[in-house]
Formats: sequence, structure tokens, C-alpha cells
Amino acid sequence: MAVGRLTGVCGIVGYAGSGPALDVVLDGLRRLEYRGYDSAGVALSTSAGLFTCKRAGKLAALEKALADETPPEASTGIGHTRWATHGAPTDTNSHPHLGPAGRVAVVHNGIIENFDGLARRLEADGHELLSDTDTEVVAHLLEAEVMKGADLTTAMQRVCRRLVGAFTLVAVSCDEPDRVVAARRSSPLVVGVGDGENFVASDVAAFIDKTTDALELGEDQVVSITATTVDITDFVGNPATGRRFTVDWDVEAAEKAGYDYFMLKEIAEQPTAVADTLLGRFTPEGRLRLDELRLSDDELRGIDKIIVVACGTAFHAGLIAKYTIEHWTRIPCEVELASEFRYRDPIIDRDTMVVAISQSGETMDTLMAVRHAREQRAKVLAISNTNGSTIPRESDAVLYTRAGPEIAVASTKAFLTQIVACHLIGLYLAQVRGTKYGDEISQVVHELESMPAAIDTVLDTVEPVRELARDLRDVSSVLFLGRHVGYPVALEGALKLKELAYMHAEGFAAGELKHGPIALIEPGTPVFVVMPSRGRGPLHDKMANNIAEIRARGARTVVLAETGDDQARECADTLIELPPVPTLLQPLVATVPMQVFACEMARVRGHEVDQPRNLAKSVTVE
Ligand code: F6R
Repeated sequence: MAVGRLTGVCGIVGYAGSGPALDVVLDGLRRLEYRGYDSAGVALSTSAGLFTCKRAGKLAALEKALADETPPEASTGIGHTRWATHGAPTDTNSHPHLGPAGRVAVVHNGIIENFDGLARRLEADGHELLSDTDTEVVAHLLEAEVMKGADLTTAMQRVCRRLVGAFTLVAVSCDEPDRVVAARRSSPLVVGVGDGENFVASDVAAFIDKTTDALELGEDQVVSITATTVDITDFVGNPATGRRFTVDWDVEAAEKAGYDYFMLKEIAEQPTAVADTLLGRFTPEGRLRLDELRLSDDELRGIDKIIVVACGTAFHAGLIAKYTIEHWTRIPCEVELASEFRYRDPIIDRDTMVVAISQSGETMDTLMAVRHAREQRAKVLAISNTNGSTIPRESDAVLYTRAGPEIAVASTKAFLTQIVACHLIGLYLAQVRGTKYGDEISQVVHELESMPAAIDTVLDTVEPVRELARDLRDVSSVLFLGRHVGYPVALEGALKLKELAYMHAEGFAAGELKHGPIALIEPGTPVFVVMPSRGRGPLHDKMANNIAEIRARGARTVVLAETGDDQARECADTLIELPPVPTLLQPLVATVPMQVFACEMARVRGHEVDQPRNLAKSVTVE
């Protein structure tokens, strides 16, 4: 009996070729496991029938189960790694799901919103649904179409027309054992075009070791692949085309390259990621050139309000953007959690620019905010790290961060590059609108270009931060304080610690402490403090006072301050020195020790650094 909707944020892969499909699919799932790791499964298609195997738990559980079976040799297969949205992940609820006759298998990412009605109709027709998933309904519907004589592609088109919601579906049928058919609506799906083999997947990481030639599918499209053909249609069956692109990172970028964790590798990649995000975006004279922005200067001059929408870490990047954008452009800038945005009926019109920040470009809360903004005729500019993902595609303009693949669930290099992208947009607006002189802009450009070296310096000096984590491993709570752009950094430091170390951690604006949170401080409570640069005298002095207040109550202070800040040295139980950088760029260096601290804390507490519990990399449900 179908009782709930269990499909969520998942990794999906499909393969049609000549190689051993099981190996290819498992390889793909391994690289997609960051998208969800509650359960995993595969289906292999041969003319003798379908073979499926699926298990609750990580991919390792599936591989263990497969070792006890004798999978057939097949050159067509599909696989799935899942992050459940409702209910407990079980073997039965894992994907793939089969039709009642076992002739069709399907994997799914997203939510079928009208699944209840469809399930009731199927049950009235005598179908027995074994799982609690919305996906099984699709398997039954697809198989019913195939039984009526439709080929799998036509069956997929017909079924998709009946579905409401957001979904990527990938299916195989033993009646067409050489074919994989996939469909998408508001959920990611890319095609990998190989030589004598083709792939479909939630993202290119799944097939990056086989091909860099990819096709991005549009909204409401079906793709049917065999070893040598790729055919795209809309849901009605009209021929359609995808957008061809070349993946510009390689398999090594998606592997750990000798680091114990992807997170450590990605932290270490930050200088390069920041440099790459800046690359080619200035003229030799220091003027900004954002070729891919796709909004005319006139349109940018007409903007009278900016609203940044994002979730989690990307939201913190947005909070920093408010300081720079307002300072450089004098345009009022609001920052809003994407999940809250559309439900409060925000005041937006054609002169509003909504900036949507999303590493994955697939976060459903952010996508829904984008759609709402566009319905109200606002201009939408996406900042994303994922070429061809849904949010950039649905936006009026895009600025890509060039961080490379971010595999660890906890966002690190994406955050720093998002901050840089926001700075670029702020400066570009200032350039176009004339709110900053050219030499002022090139001064900031110059400073931005020196940031990779500054981040490198921080990375060279973080060993004491690791020691500190080991020393504090048993504390129950850690607080983070910041002012001005240091405040979002404090929020980010706390978020990293929560998600990785499962500790109580909170970030506060330092000035707020006396209005309540100071009561949390007990003798020995560790408090990280982001000290404003000395160039901001009043802020610096206020923060020194705040540190005195918490020390008087027994806090153990960990102060992040620029080298040579003697006042900070005096009030720090532990001093973490940062290279002196302009105030508005300080988050790019101050965040790094906090990332390292959270990573090491997770390690010493015995947690999985790259795949923290209950989380998924790309949250494609609201
Ligand atoms: C935290 C983290 C999340 C993401 C958030 C938005 O480390 O990774 O908070 O920042 O889920 O994801 P994107 O940027 O893909 O929209």
C-alpha cells in the first residue's frame, strides 16, 4: 500500500554500450554518492529479463549484496543512490522499482506530486504496490504502456504527461534490452555522448572518466539512448535538441588526489578556485569584463533594488554580498533565504534584480525563488558552479564560479568563489552605473587578484587549528562572533561545525551578544572571534570590548586576527593569524581556518567527513 513519498535527492545513472554495464553503473554511482547515500540499487537489462539488486545503506552495502549474487552479463543498466525525503530508507523502498511483471525497471529523483491519485487508480485496477514510494507508481504505469504495445520511449512520453511534480526518471525494459530511456522536469539530467557507448546521469561526474562530451536536456524532455544513438523528444514525441557542451574538468578533479577526504582536497584547492573565478574577467587596464552576464548595461543601470536568494552556505555568501554591493553601488540590497522568499509575497518588479546563488544550480528552494522572481518580471542573475544546471538555465543571466567539482557535502571552495562572484557583480554594477571611479575599481581588482596568495598563506599555517580541534573535541558547544562582513563568516563557521561535527554551534553578530546570547557562556566555552581589520578602527575597538566581556565570563577565546594585531594577541587564548587584507575581502581568508577546524573536529570525533549524516549535496526537494 502506498502511504508516503519517499523519493528525494538522488544520484542517477544509465548506461547503454558494449562494456560490462554493472561495472560502469557502479563506477558512476560511486562518483554520485555525494548526492545521497541512504540506499542504492542497480538494474541490468538483457533479453532474458531484468536483474535488480538494491539495498538500504551506502553503496558498499549494495556491493556486498551483489557479491552474493550472479548478475548476468549485460551491456545496458541503470543505477541509483538515494537520499530519502520522508520515512526510513529500506531495501523495499530503494530504487530501482519494477513493474508487476518485472519487465520495466525505473529509478527516480524528485517528487511526483499527484502520486496518491495515480496510486489509488492503479490499486483500483488491481495493482499491488509494494513500497511506500512514488516511484513504484511510475514503474507500474510504464509497464502498463509497454504491455499495451508501446515502445519504452513512447511509454515514457505518455507517463510523463500524466505526472505532476519535479522528476528525473531513467528506465529500462527487457523488451528493448539495448535501450535506456530517461526524462526530466525541473530536476537534473545530462547525457554523456561516448564512442560506442552513451550515458545518462544526474551529473557529469558519473561518466567523466568515459567522455567529456555532454548534452544538457531541456525542461520536459525525454531522451532515449542506445550504444550508438541519442534521440531527444518532448513529452508529446516531437523531436527536440539538447545543448551540447564539453565538460572542462577531468576524472582527477573528481577523485581525492591523495587527500584523506574530498573536503580537505577542496579546502586546499581554494586558491586555485578563486584564481580561476577571477580569470579573464578584467581587461589589462583593470576594468571588469563579464562576457557571459547577458544583461545589457542599460538594464543594469535601471535596477533599483537587489535581492539575493540562496540557502545554507550560499546564503552566507549572499550576506557578505550585501555589504559590498551596497557599499560599491548604493543600490539597496536585501538577502533572503530562498525557502522563505516567495511565501512572504516580496515586493519585486522589473527594476528588481534577484541574484540566486547556488553551487549545484539545482537546489529546489532556490529554483522556486527564481521562478517566482521571474513571474514577477524581476531580472534574475544566477551565480552557480554547475554549467548547464537548472537555475542558470532558467535565469536571465549567469556568472559561473569556476571552483571545479565540489564533492564533499560541506561546501568550502564553492563558498569562497561565490563571495568572489558577488564581488565581481558589485564592482561591475559600480562600473556600469559610475558609482565608483575606474581607479577605485582597478584597486579592488588588484586586491582580489592577490587573494589566492593570501589564502595560500592561511593554508600554510593551519596546523595549530587542527591541534585546537583535537584539544576541544569533547566540548559541548562552540560559539562564533563576528561584526560587519565577519558576521556571515561567524555564521558559516558555526554551520560547518554543526553539519560535520554534530556539535551545538552558533554564530552571532558580536554586538547582539549582550542582548541575550551571552548567557550561554560558561567557564571554558570556546568562542571563535573574527576580529575586524585594524583599518576599521571603531569596529576593531568594539570587538575588543566584546572579547573583554566574554573573557570576564570565562570564555576561552580563539581570535582570528590579522598578523601584527597586538590588541587581539592580548585578548586571545588562542590566536589564529591571518594575512592583512582589505576589510571587504577578509571573509576569503577568515573562513578557511574554520573549515579546517570543522573538518578536523569531525575526524577526531569519528564522523564521516565527506558524507555527514542526514545530508545530501544537492537538495532538489523543497
Ligand atoms: C553547507 C552546504 C549547504 C549548501 C546549500 C545550498 O556546507 O553545503 O548549506 O550551501 O544546501 O546548496 P547550493 O549552493 O547547491 O544551492
